[in-house]
Order: sequence, then C-alpha cells, then structure tokens
Amino acid sequence: MGRHSSSFNSFVFPVVMGCLAALMLSSALIYLYLEGVYQSDEKLVSTHAGCLSQHFKLPSMENCSKWLQCSQIKSEVHKVKLIGQGAVKKVYLADWKGHKVALSELASLEYREDFLHGLSMLQALQDSLVVQLVGFCLENNSIITQHHPHGSLLNLENVLAQPKYQHLNTWHIRLRLATDYVSILHYLHNSPAGRRVMCDSNSLEKTLSQFLLTNDFHVVINDLDALPEVNPSGGMLVKCGSRELTGHFVAPEQLWPFIDDEQPFSDDLMPPYDEKTDIWKIPDVTQFIMGRTPGGDLVHFHLFQIHKECKNVLPRLRPSAFDVLKTYKSVYGAVVRENRDML
Ligand SMILES: Nc1ncnc2c1ncn2[C@@H]1O[C@H](COP(=O)(O)OP(=O)(O)OP(=O)(O)O)[C@@H](O)[C@H]1O
Ligand SMILES: *[C@@H]1O[C@H](CO)[C@@H](O)[C@H](O)[C@H]1NC(C)=O
Ligand SMILES: *[C@@H]1O[C@H](CO)[C@@H](O)[C@H](O)[C@H]1NC(C)=O
Repeated sequence: MGRHSSSFNSFVFPVVMGCLAALMLSSALIYLYLEGVYQSDEKLVSTHAGCLSQHFKLPSMENCSKWLQCSQIKSEVHKVKLIGQGAVKKVYLADWKGHKVALSELASLEYREDFLHGLSMLQALQDSLVVQLVGFCLENNSIITQHHPHGSLLNLENVLAQPKYQHLNTWHIRLRLATDYVSILHYLHNSPAGRRVMCDSNSLEKTLSQFLLTNDFHVVINDLDALPEVNPSGGMLVKCGSRELTGHFVAPEQLWPFIDDEQPFSDDLMPPYDEKTDIWKIPDVTQFIMGRTPGGDLVHFHLFQIHKECKNVLPRLRPSAFDVLKTYKSVYGAVVRENRDML
C-alpha cells in the first residue's frame, strides 16, 4: 500500500507539474496573443459600447449595428413626437425597429454649416462622455442619436423631485454629475480632434441645454455644433460668434473691452480668446447641479478655493479642467470621510 502510493506520487508529481507548466505557458501565450490583437486592432474595439468604430448599440439591443444610412433612416425610422427645438435642430423622439431613438433635423437651412460641424464632431468624438451616434443622412439633413428620456440637464431638479428618484437626490449623485461635466470639459480640451472650446454657452440655461441626463444618472454632451479649435501655444484663438456678449455668466475676456470708452462694439476689434472661458463658467454650472441638498454646503465649502481660481480675471491663471477634475474627485473622498466622522 505504502509502496503503491509512493510510486503513485512519484508518477503523479511530474505529471501535475508538467500540466501546470503547460497551463502557465498557454495562458502566457493567450495573454500575448490578446495583447497583440488589442494593439493591432485598437481601432476595431474603440466605442464605449464595446462595438467596432462606426457601430452603435442601444441599451435595448443585443448586438452592435453599423451606423444607419439614408435608406434605413427613410424606411425604418418613424417620428413619434417633437421633444426639443433649438436654433439649429428640431429633435423628435422616433422609433427604429422598436428601439427609441432621437431624430434631429436641420431646423433652418441658414444653420446647415453648424449642423454639419456638429455631425463631424459627433463622429470624431464618440466616447462614453458623448451622446451615442446611431446614424445620419446628409441628403435629409438628419442625425439619429441615442434617446435619453430625462432630457437635458435643465430638467435635473424636476427629475430628482419625482418620488421614484428622490433617493438619488443626494450630494453624492449631484457631485458625481458635476464631476461628469468637468470630465467632459477635460475631454473636449484634450480631444482626438484637438483642443475644443464649448462656444454654445453664453448663459447658464444655454449651457445646461447642451448636456443630457442619462438613465443611470450620468451626463453626456449632446450638442457639438459650436466647438471651434484653439491652440494657445500656436497663437490660434477663437471668438464665440461675431456678436457682442454681455452679462456675468460669460468670461470677462468675452466682453467688449472698450465699453467704458463708449466705443460701439466692432467684431473686428474684439480680441479672441481660448478654452479658459469654459473654466470661468464651471462654478455657476456646478452650483446649479449641486442645488440645495443636505451635505451640499460642505461640498461648496471644499470647492470654494478651486472655484475662486476658476474665476480669476486672467485666463492663464485659471486652472485646467484636469486640475478642477482632480480637486472634485478628492473633495468627494474628503466629504465622504467627514460625513462618516460626524456619525
Ligand atoms: N438624444 C436626445 N435625447 C433626449 N432629448 C434630446 C436629445 N437630443 C436633444 N434633445 C433635446 O432637444 C434639445 C435641443 O437639442 P440640441 O441642443 O441638439 O438642438 P440645437 O438646435 O443644436 O440647440 P441650440 O439652439 O443650442 O443650438 C435639447 O436641449 C434636449 O432637451
Ligand atoms: C446577435 O448575434 C447573435 C450571434 O451572431 C445571433 O445569433 C443573434 O440572432 C443576434 N441577435 C439579434 C437580435 O440580431
Ligand atoms: C427624408 O426625405 C424624404 C424625401 O426627401 C422623406 O420622404 C422622408 O420622410 C425623410 N425622412 C426622414 C427620416 O426625415
């Protein structure tokens, strides 16, 4: 018996070790293979929905599908009702094979250039922070995107006031939404299409209407119609439109500088600026998103310093979106700890 088991051991041991070695070798090979696949085919697995590029997958879909083209849009997409109207687009809730989608149509031919710019940005910037493109048809001037039933960030208070969402009306969720918004600015300022400025943001309401609230209470940017490129080191600056901007929401460098000289506004004499205009607007947008909720005061207290820096009159002294993002994330941790210590 003893001999049997010992000879069994001396037979089994090398076999087990051999198997283990083979297993390790094969997993190493699989790992190297997969790494090769991901490196060589990086473009093929690039959408956040896990699809190939130029594909989409709605939450109600099992598989990815190629962006819809004119023929499919004309025959398979049916308008249900108007859900939004801006200067550039009329937005409809629509049905595509039982899936709800948003159909945006050019509202006035005068804005076709903005519409086309928005579409090219939508294609170039597809990411988890950007609304998902489902298809487009240029001859119809129509764009199909994922539909977000909660609509734009302007609806935030109404949505959180609904009894079924009241448990989400917390400083945690609201700070997370504000962090999403700053993440989007960081993405636009360092995007695959260069450093982009969010120009369609001359008032708080206008700015909020460019973002959508997703079903899982995150924020995506929706309207990319006015995203000019800047390159401050290369001297490439922009102006958001050719008309005079006024008020406290826009950055001071966006205001007509010769107002005290009683010189009438002239676009030719108006100096251009860079993406730091977006940073100036962060405290006001975050203040709106945070609203008035228990724990919110503590968050505002922690954000006081960085928000003060965002409001520096000199653009170059304002923090980058990345600096603000880092602060928001650390404030989240700090407030969680302080709330815990108070219990
Ligand atoms: N995918 C969507 N899901 C839900 N609502 C949407 C969607 N897309 C747009 N909307 C609604 O339609 C409104 C107008 O859309 P959008 O901002 O794209 O139009 P616009 O004409 O470009 O506006 P602007 O006048 O700011 O240029 C949004 O603020 C939002 O309320
Ligand atoms: C999704 O893809 C699988 C595998 O290719 C297929 O069997 C299935 O029918 C597809 N589902 C739909 C809804 O097209
Ligand atoms: C596209 O245009 C055609 C005719 O030009 C029209 O019949 C169709 O309804 C349009 N489709 C959409 C989705 O706008």
